Amino acid sequence: MKIDDKLFRKAMSSFPSGVTIVTTLDTEGQSRGFTATAFSSLSCNPPMILICLSNKAECFQTFTSSGRFAVNILSQDYEQLAMRFATTGADKFAGGEFVLGESGLPVLPYALASLECKVDQFHPGGDHVILTGIVEHANVHEGEATVYFGGKFRFLAELVPAKIDALKLQVTALMIKAVRKETRAGTLDCRAVLDETGCDVQKAIDLIRSRGQKTPKIVWV
Ligand SMILES: Cc1cc2nc3c(=O)[nH]c(=O)nc-3n(C[C@H](O)[C@H](O)[C@H](O)COP(=O)(O)O)c2cc1C
Repeated sequence: MKIDDKLFRKAMSSFPSGVTIVTTLDTEGQSRGFTATAFSSLSCNPPMILICLSNKAECFQTFTSSGRFAVNILSQDYEQLAMRFATTGADKFAGGEFVLGESGLPVLPYALASLECKVDQFHPGGDHVILTGIVEHANVHEGEATVYFGGKFRFLAELVPAKIDALKLQVTALMIKAVRKETRAGTLDCRAVLDETGCDVQKAIDLIRSRGQKTPKIVWV
């Protein structure tokens, strides 16, 4: 039974992925490219990668005949560029962001990584084709990645602190126990100080000590 299109897209959007721009040159030497998240490492020896390209893409013919492609893994500064390369008919290379790489393919100089490949094989897959490529040149730069998740572009730096903050908001019994053990302060005092310090156990202990908060008569065991 065929599942609903929307459900399939939603299921796939719950898999976080990096974002790439895949480029090549047409027979007249014009740069062509599209935004792709369907990218994967394939083999270490020889070094191989794969991308999946829709057979409805305007650039389909170029990619399946040029014999070469480059994958540019985007850092967090390239969200607008990714949108431009996901728009059929856009003047994608007008901004002059790309330079020619070692094999003559368009590459982004400040991509997290650029991988220039020779096409190895094509594998049909429904309404897409899988292009496998042998990597002939690679460049790597430090930086934060752009992530596509839940149908949105996100930054790793944005996701991680948000999670930590969410976790920090709740005072747990374990935190109270840890603060009580070190300070012998009362449960309510410990909870209040943990709230005050954003659930930072060490800060809570230090704060209680610095205030000289009274220890209870019943000794903590
Ligand atoms: C985040 C994102 C990821 C995408 N990933 C792919 C992909 O892996 N393969 C693909 O064929 N199209 C993908 N697309 C759509 C193409 O980038 C878009 O259809 C592009 O315009 C096709 O090239 P064209 O302009 O030559 O038609 C993606 C779009 C977005 C926004």
